[in-house]
Amino acid sequence: MELIIKKTAADIAKDVARHFVHFVEQNPKANLGLATGSSPLDIYKHIIYLHEKRRVSFAQVKTFNLDEYLGLVDDKQSYRFFMQQNLFNHLDIPLENTHFPDATKPEGYDALIAHNGGVDIQLLGIGSNGHIAFNEPFTSFSSYTHIVNLDEKTRKDNARFFRDMNEVPTQAVTMGLATIMQAREIILVILGDAKILALKQLFCMEKDESFPASILNEHPNVKVYTTMDLFKKTFCHKA
Ligand code: F6R
Repeated sequence: MELIIKKTAADIAKDVARHFVHFVEQNPKANLGLATGSSPLDIYKHIIYLHEKRRVSFAQVKTFNLDEYLGLVDDKQSYRFFMQQNLFNHLDIPLENTHFPDATKPEGYDALIAHNGGVDIQLLGIGSNGHIAFNEPFTSFSSYTHIVNLDEKTRKDNARFFRDMNEVPTQAVTMGLATIMQAREIILVILGDAKILALKQLFCMEKDESFPASILNEHPNVKVYTTMDLFKKTFCHKA
């Protein structure tokens, strides 16, 4: 893993967005793996800005999102809605090129990704418990796309996107850890004080299913982005 430390979250967003847009310029038929949540929001804003400024077309790009909730009371809380609002509606990407796992046939998602030639760059955030996508602690490292019961910790972390805790779904469908590991390149963005322990465990812990993100140590091409502030809070102890 390569650790890239930037001064601010805005600097990370610009760097990662430039990387994605440059890749699309070079590879107009790129397959992009995308995430939802707070961490990618500014990245998506900057991708939209670069798409307009540099006239980079996403018309032939295909996207594969990590996960989707089950049993939502309001479709506006779906990850599909989030992606439409924060990225897809602002690009020239056709709706049919944007993919999400389907709870009625989870394993079909791995086949779909493989059929399209695999994910070129996968964007990830991380949960405070070390989850990537919705692979909660003790998910098998050899898991493919599957349905999960969400951790209470994850439900509480995500409650900020819902009107009240009762609306936070208890299940989701998610790419598995083996699915994620098949991406040719992975970019993990770690932001916010709630992730201090996760950042530390990622670099200091041995590979262990109790901390799902630890599998990333085995991938040949992972870039981990964090801010100087978070790096210092994580690794520089006062004497
Ligand atoms: C989102 C996802 C999750 C988030 C993680 C961090 O599609 O799969 O793993 O990346 O929960 O979320 P934020 O960025 O909101 O802290």
